[in-house]
Amino acid sequence: MSKNTIEENQRRHQLDDDEQVWLFGYGSLIYLVDFPYLESRPASIRGWSRRFWQGSHDHRGTEENPGRVVTLIEDKDAVCGGLAFLIEAPVFRQLDVREKNGYLRVTTEMTFDDDSHATGLTYIATPDNEAYLGAASEYQIARHISRAAGPSGPNDEYLLELANALRSLGLHDQHVFDIESHLLRMTR
Ligand code: SIN
Repeated sequence: MSKNTIEENQRRHQLDDDEQVWLFGYGSLIYLVDFPYLESRPASIRGWSRRFWQGSHDHRGTEENPGRVVTLIEDKDAVCGGLAFLIEAPVFRQLDVREKNGYLRVTTEMTFDDDSHATGLTYIATPDNEAYLGAASEYQIARHISRAAGPSGPNDEYLLELANALRSLGLHDQHVFDIESHLLRMTR
């Protein structure tokens, strides 16, 4: 079931229009940058792992056949690499619409590639949201992804673009790369 988080996000973080905020992106926000930003930098956050456990009913799937997209799962010693964007607060209005299916803005500490830090926000879809699909094996996830598509395009495009973007950032994510290998084997 889909879950619209737009109002909750706007209630949780009331930002002034002239504020600049660091946003940590770890999924489609890394490779589909359709929003304005002032600066972008490779960054990582500690205590979270990227997993294809969130349902997509609005972008890479439909209400009847949701796709699978990434969220962050609490994982004490894990480090998740991604890309941070410095954005002007009003840009969150557009991002809240894009990330509306279950994702909530969460405050996080991020580390940049020169070891400096900043506090910012990231979108996380927690296991209690209605659109959450949960764990499955990498093989099952690849099968699911190979069959799903939605208004933003096929689900496999999301996976392949993310895997390529991670590689170009020099990041290794075994979960993502294993799903990619299964998918490529299935479609060849
Ligand atoms: C993100 O990219 O940071 C959030 C999840 C997504 O939009 O794929």
